Amino acid sequence: MQNFTSVEDINDLQSIIKEALKIKENPLAEPDKGKGKTIGLVFLNSSLRTRLSSQIAAQNLGLNVLTLNAAQEAWNLEFSDGAIMNGDTVEHIKDAIEVLNQYCDIIAVRCFAGMKNKEDDVNESILSQFLKHAKVPVISLESATRHPLQSLADCITITENWKEDRKPKVVLTWAPHIKPIAQAVGNSFAEWMQEMDVDFVITNPEGYDLDPKFVKNSTVIHNQNEALKDADFIYVKNWSSFENYAQMPEVKENWMLTNEKLKLTNNAKVMHCLPVRRNVELSDEVMDSENSIIYQQAKNRIFSAQTVFSEILDEIS
Ligand code: CP
Repeated sequence: MQNFTSVEDINDLQSIIKEALKIKENPLAEPDKGKGKTIGLVFLNSSLRTRLSSQIAAQNLGLNVLTLNAAQEAWNLEFSDGAIMNGDTVEHIKDAIEVLNQYCDIIAVRCFAGMKNKEDDVNESILSQFLKHAKVPVISLESATRHPLQSLADCITITENWKEDRKPKVVLTWAPHIKPIAQAVGNSFAEWMQEMDVDFVITNPEGYDLDPKFVKNSTVIHNQNEALKDADFIYVKNWSSFENYAQMPEVKENWMLTNEKLKLTNNAKVMHCLPVRRNVELSDEVMDSENSIIYQQAKNRIFSAQTVFSEILDEIS
């Protein structure tokens, strides 16, 4: 694995999941694997789970960890090529990445969608600069269109919770929110579920279809109750409109996941990447129920990160 920015960087998903579950059994089995090497964790946006799980994963492997909360602590970055930097921006992203190359053996970066210019987001305008200028492997800690470490943790969690001898029905359901949110988690979950042995369904209101590039041949149902029928796993997530980019077309029906809606399912396990808006996206009763595997999912972020760091260390050692 040279870089890790999407499911396409994985050769064999089932073997990566198996490896992650082995690491989970004994996370400290290789405490010196990253000895003498440094990973830079660069956050252009807020984080709780990604920051802390990545730090734990790196420490478990003996890596030195540099965490840069760039939005708060670094110089104001310029992202446009050829910019005349006589305004508020102080350091060009190219220069920042060249300097990170001097300090780090692996660079991991979080760079959300700006949600202002669809073309910039679809083309991963920031992540692409890291991929262009980095001279060391690059790991996405969530980019404009994908959240691959989250999706790997989601695959690990589904695998741990499915013992029956048939394909589980996995439903990704849109949920309400108070402000526009990027499509990265939904896109990424769809992309990874298409590589899993599951019956995958996406349900969202009209006007909220994800980018066809990520939906591919997945079933899309605009009636939530119909989609939830007999589900074994429900993944709850909001996203704003892709078609009317970053807008929030009005939705008349109530899409919040409640216990009443869970009755339609096969006693489904409930997932969410967190952070979650309780009683907006899903109800307290669902969040705190035995059906929720949301905290297990958060714990698995450690093992998804550790597996990817370990694979990349194999490549550069
Ligand atoms: N799920 C997730 O990525 O959480 P953070 O945004 O807190 O890192």
